[in-house]
Amino acid sequence: MGSLPAIPDSMVESLRSSEHLCVLTGAGVSAESGLRTFRDALTGMWAKYDPMSLATPEAFERDPDLVTRWYDFRVGEGGKHTPNPGHHALARLEEWMTARDRGFTLLTQNVDGFHQDAGSREVVELHGTIRTWRCARCSTGYTHSGRPFDAYPPRCERCPDGVLRPNVVWFGEMLPEEAIERAHDAIASCDVFISIGTSGVVQPASSFGEAAGARGAKVFEINLEPTPLTARADASIHAPSGLALPLLVDRVTA
Ligand code: OAD
Repeated sequence: MGSLPAIPDSMVESLRSSEHLCVLTGAGVSAESGLRTFRDALTGMWAKYDPMSLATPEAFERDPDLVTRWYDFRVGEGGKHTPNPGHHALARLEEWMTARDRGFTLLTQNVDGFHQDAGSREVVELHGTIRTWRCARCSTGYTHSGRPFDAYPPRCERCPDGVLRPNVVWFGEMLPEEAIERAHDAIASCDVFISIGTSGVVQPASSFGEAAGARGAKVFEINLEPTPLTARADASIHAPSGLALPLLVDRVTA
């Protein structure tokens, strides 16, 4: 067993007195649930693929069978795992903040739905979700059953040649307008910003911490390792979020 991470007092104090907290999460938050992060090498039958080359509209156009199989596989992986103590701690923190009439916004780049499963309410899914799909042709919406599709690519029930795609944002696609508006509102009004488990290399999320800090918000980070935001942050915890978040939230809400 390793030692427990130290939780900076400045972080606890800032959170205790925050009137509007904005949290940004990335794949690292789900890593302790057993889901691989985006930039980790894929394993098994997917080892030979670069995730960056599967998450594009061009890849879907070129090979809808392959791309829908990959996302179907990810839905299946999600079904085998559950939220971890980090997700639960964030839900607890939101409850504590809202009970005190304070603002709380959780911006996530994750598409796995684990924050909602853990009880988080104010979740902005910047990159969409793998749990709902739509026809790429007529946009009819579908909720994924959690079971693998019968055939690939999955077909639309309404339109004969329509192929279903996940409601995620691929490279080169626009973020959902409502999500980006809610994110900008949160960045513009938060007094504390925390970035958790994200490599901070994909725009626009990678600029959120900098923008909040430039407005005068306190900026914190929880990540296994330093990121481009570390130098800008008021304090950082370099530890697994599933370990650090429960400790932090226990102290804030004590
Ligand atoms: P990445 O895979 O780029 O980064 C994961 C980050 O989590 C890294 O900085 C790790 O150090 C950190 N990490 C891993 N395990 C952790 C743990 N247990 N506790 C804390 N931190 C941990 O994932 P994202 O930053 O989410 O976009 O990637 C952002 C976006 O890039 C994704 O949403 C995806 C990808 O391109 C799209 O698909 C549009």
